[in-house]
Order: sequence, then structure tokens, then C-alpha cells
Amino acid sequence: MAKILVTGGTGYIGSHTVVELQKEGFEVVIVDNLSNSNIEVLNGIEKITGIRPAFENIDCVDYVSMDRMFEKYNNIEAIIHFAASKAVGESVEKPLLYYRNNLVSLINLLQLMPIHKVRNFVFSSSCTVYGQPDILPVTEDAPIKPALSPYGNTKQIGEEIIRDTIYANSSLNSIILRYFNPVGAHASAEIGELPNGVPNNLMPFVTQTAIGMRKQLQVFGDDYNTPDGSCIRDYIHVVDLAKAHVVAVKRLLAGKPKKNVEIFNLGTGRGLSVLEIIETFERVNGVKVPHKIVGRREGDIEKVWAEPAHANNELGWKASETLEETLRSAWAWEQNLANRAKAE
Ligand code: UD1
Repeated sequence: MAKILVTGGTGYIGSHTVVELQKEGFEVVIVDNLSNSNIEVLNGIEKITGIRPAFENIDCVDYVSMDRMFEKYNNIEAIIHFAASKAVGESVEKPLLYYRNNLVSLINLLQLMPIHKVRNFVFSSSCTVYGQPDILPVTEDAPIKPALSPYGNTKQIGEEIIRDTIYANSSLNSIILRYFNPVGAHASAEIGELPNGVPNNLMPFVTQTAIGMRKQLQVFGDDYNTPDGSCIRDYIHVVDLAKAHVVAVKRLLAGKPKKNVEIFNLGTGRGLSVLEIIETFERVNGVKVPHKIVGRREGDIEKVWAEPAHANNELGWKASETLEETLRSAWAWEQNLANRAKAE
């Protein structure tokens, strides 16, 4: 079965994707510099699938080491490129860190692909490229709005770099996946989201508050133009998202893409407010999430959710997990983490 390079494969979305790839029989090589993940994730992947993926502790910014890695695993057939920095606030403080990490990594991979005869590339992009869309649900044709952060800009520029590179070298093919808000964890609770320090994202803050690690969740604003005043997002189960990557890889390997660069929204098509998420989490898990309304967070989008029809029809992929199951899995993972910490 084909060998797939997964950069950022010990990260949150990466690790769930490695599991789904291995379940489908793919051979996986992970490259990760562990800057925002833990080597123990490999144990979780092995527990679930019975296979320990090959792992190389390399920074994708390091061209020479990446070149050697391609030599070592000589017949890689596709790359899924997750490795990137993703904290919006940090990117405002340290723009060059973000431009270097996210863009140099990408450029290195695209440069190394023809040298090592790798033709297929799946790129992690984000719905952040749409900014606040004028029309909802948002389709792939919606205009790209000026980025609100250096992080968001690296995703926009990254997409352009891929387009320009493939325009110049049509033997390469890429599928760009624009993620909405991934949440939840593998049903085994062996892998999940492992934020460093205080979480920026909503779901880990919810679960950490529910378990008592944080006193109170702050809800950023209740005066938006939405039914309950809080922001609306499209929350998608991370396992659904992971499965879309397997579909994308299979499509590339089978030579099925209709264009050299294809773009797909990965979302559920359902918009949910912050308050709805808290209420549903409390109900399905029977726990309280102490929270209070505070002011708006700078740079937040009021409402965004996906039109997933293109992915549904073309990829034959659809997000299938219920919201209830998704929120239960997030809670099971947090509880598992707490049990592990107690056992240590
Ligand atoms: C954010 C980024 C997005 C990026 C993604 C990756 C912004 C504007 N967008 O998405 O570009 O791809 O992270 O990690 O930063 N919320 C609270 N309290 C909290 C945390 C969040 O109320 O403590 C609210 C937010 O206001 C938002 C929703 O929860 O309405 C989701 O927030 P978050 O999980 O940070 O994701 P995004 O902002 O959608």
C-alpha cells in the first residue's frame, strides 16, 4: 500500500488522520518537530491501530534534513502537510515566526517534491481565508477577504504558493482543504487535542473548565447580530475531518482530480453559537461549565459556517458524527487526560 508522509502527524488533526490512514492500510511516515505536540501520541496511535508509524523528529523548515528524509523513505507517494503554527494571537506578536514556519516549510516541500518524484499534496487550510463572508453558508467560490492576522495570511499566501507552483509544474497535484472548527477526539479517548498552556480555542477551554482546571470560561461577546448574540461557527468532529484526508489522498493517487488544484470546504454545514455549544456540552455530559459573558475578542468573525456540498458531491465525503457524540468524545478525552495525570 502507498506510503504517505504526514507532516505534523503527532498534532491534533494530524494524529487522527494517521489513525484513519493506517486503518485503510496506508503506510505512514510522520515528520514532526514536537514543537506543539508530544511523542506519546505515537503510543495512542499504536494502541488504536496496532501499528506504530515511522517517526522523524525534523523541522520542515530544515531543507537538508527533509531532503535526507525523502531519501530514506524513498517512495513516498503523497504528502499531507499539517505542520504549522496556528495560534492567532501569537502570530500577531511574532509575525516572522509564523511566516517562516508556515511558508518556508511549505516551500521546502514543494521544492523537494519533484526532486523525489512525489506528485500529490494535501494542504491544511482554514475557513479563516474567507474572513466574514457576505453570503452564508460559505462556498469555495466566496471571495478571499484581507487576512485578520499573520496566521490567516500564511494560509492565504500558502494557497497562492501552491497554485503558482502547480501552474508552473503541472505534474504536481494538490487538494487544498479548508477546515472549519475541528473539535472532539477519537472514540477510544486514546488521542485528542493537547493544547499547550492556556487554550485559545473554545473546546479545550470548555473541557478544562468542566473538569475544574479553569475557574470560568469567558464567552467573548453576546452583542453580535446572531439569535443569542454569541458568535456562530461550524464545529466538525475531528475524526470526520481526518477521514476527508484519506478520501483526498485516494482521489489524488487514483488520478481522479478534475483540476491540478482542487479546493474543498470541510464543515458540517451547521452553524452553532458559543452558548449553544456550552448548553449542549452540559446537557450531554451532565456537567456544568461555569461561564460568564465578557467583551468581544479582537479579530473574531461574527458568524461563519460551511456549504459542504462540493465536498459531499465530489469527494463523496460527508461529516456524519452528531454534535452530541462529538461533545461526548471531547469530554471523554479530557477525563482520560485527568486520569492519566492522577496515575503519574
Ligand atoms: C481560530 C482562528 C482561526 C484558526 C483557528 C485555529 C480567530 C479569529 N480565528 O478560529 O483562524 O484557523 O482558530 O485554531 O482567531 N470563544 C469564547 N471563549 C473562549 C474561546 C473561544 O467565547 O475562551 C469563542 C470565540 O469567540 C469564537 C468561538 O468560541 O466565537 C470559537 O473560537 P476558537 O475555538 O478560538 O476558533 P475560531 O476563532 O473560530
